[in-house]
Amino acid sequence: MCVFAVRVFLGVLLCAPYQCLECPFGCECFAVTRTVKCVSKDLLTVPQSIPGYAKTVIITGNNIHHIGPDSFTDMENVTNIILSNNRITEMASHSFSALINLRFLDLSENQLALIHPEALRIPGGPLQELNLSRSLHNFTALTDLATALRWGDLRGLLRLDLSGNHLALLPPGMFSHLPDLQQLFLANNSLVAVHGGTFSGMNRLELLDLTANVFSTFGADALQELEKLGNIRILLGDNPYTCSCEISHFVAWLNESRAQVDVDAVRCASPGGLSETQLRGLGVHAIGCVDPVQAEVADLTLQTSYVFLGLVLGFVGMVFLFVLYLNRKGMKKWIIGMRDACRDVLEGYRYRFEIDSDPRLGHSSAENGGSRARGNLGLALPRDTCIVKLPADTQVKQLTISSTCEPMIFS
Ligand SMILES: *[C@@H]1O[C@H](CO)[C@@H](O)[C@H](O)[C@H]1NC(C)=O
Ligand SMILES: *[C@@H]1O[C@H](CO)[C@@H](O)[C@H](O)[C@H]1NC(C)=O
Ligand SMILES: *[C@@H]1O[C@H](CO)[C@@H](O)[C@H](O)[C@H]1NC(C)=O
Ligand SMILES: *[C@@H]1O[C@H](CO)[C@@H](O)[C@H](O)[C@H]1NC(C)=O
Ligand SMILES: *[C@@H]1O[C@H](CO)[C@@H](O)[C@H](O)[C@H]1NC(C)=O
Repeated sequence: MCVFAVRVFLGVLLCAPYQCLECPFGCECFAVTRTVKCVSKDLLTVPQSIPGYAKTVIITGNNIHHIGPDSFTDMENVTNIILSNNRITEMASHSFSALINLRFLDLSENQLALIHPEALRIPGGPLQELNLSRSLHNFTALTDLATALRWGDLRGLLRLDLSGNHLALLPPGMFSHLPDLQQLFLANNSLVAVHGGTFSGMNRLELLDLTANVFSTFGADALQELEKLGNIRILLGDNPYTCSCEISHFVAWLNESRAQVDVDAVRCASPGGLSETQLRGLGVHAIGCVDPVQAEVADLTLQTSYVFLGLVLGFVGMVFLFVLYLNRKGMKKWIIGMRDACRDVLEGYRYRFEIDSDPRLGHSSAENGGSRARGNLGLALPRDTCIVKLPADTQVKQLTISSTCEPMIFS
């Protein structure tokens, strides 16, 4: 109470009367810069009777839980309002609709749990920048916000900051009623995937910040969604990318996309061997998968070479057979020649052997012709006949040649 009395007393003493009297309690008003500041005063409501000249209103570090249609009245000159860090939990319908020239609204660092569908509605849609960084209490607040963005008539919004809100997923078409949006900040959330339609209707986007979420990769539909945004700047750094084979589509997209990605910051978080490796330019072998097209080509090459080899072998075989056919007479002659040669050689050997090993035979043949020798042969060597060279007896010789010499030639 004492401090309060002193403050009031000092205030009255120090200020130029016309300015101080117009400035609400707990605030500082600067007529020259047309700024009103109500900082860290534990205010429970938005101060009333803010001077009409004010263009910038800064109300931060207070305890204002609720804002509604009577929070801001008669403030047609206000263009910027900073309401960060006020523990605001609830925004009622038409909270800002008296602020017909409001361009910049900062609601960051609050705990919004209830957002009326028409909370952000301002006649004429003057708002250009909305900061909701670290301001949503939970998922209910996000769905409320999605509705409020749709019903808020925010045609002129250029920048939207939704960073640091633990967002795990974005409702499809959430931004489709913000046709002029140029910069969308979604950093420091818990996004794991981008689904088809997430960014539909955004034709003017220039910057998309997805830094510091929990993306481990981007699937085909996500990449299609990002590619649809054209050659905009996309920040994808500081995500826990898993550099396994599944990430190859994302790498290929990084290799080729027309979007301007902060590729220096897009690095593998795992596996260990690749951690901190830049994703763009990673080879398919490095991430443990063989490009299916290459594998197919290799397979096809192998098959082709087998077929070729088969054809060559077949051709060689045909030529060989053809040569054999052409030479069939020569071959026959050669075979017969071989047979004769064999026969001659064997006969020569055997004959000599007989003569050398059987002195009796040698004696008898020397003594009186071949009759005895033939009888002896029949008894001692009944099956071996090539050896017998008996000029007198041709019948025996012929019979036996066919059974013993021929197999030797052909086998
Ligand atoms: C807004 O500013 C203009 C010019 O500075 C002034 O004439 C007008 O009265 C102000 N509006 C209000 C509601 O004070
Ligand atoms: C939104 O507010 C946060 C905290 O107040 C600030 O760090 C951030 O830069 C603001 N966003 C934009 C786009 O200015
Ligand atoms: C979000 O918070 C509000 C207020 O605390 C609560 O009523 C609501 O059930 C919460 N929603 C979820 C999904 O937790
Ligand atoms: C993300 O959060 C961390 C810690 O809360 C903060 O230091 C950092 O500035 C935030 N980054 C962005 C882009 O909001
Ligand atoms: C990306 O580009 C590099 C060379 O710049 C190439 O070696 C690699 O195979 C490409 N990755 C994919 C998945 O296309």
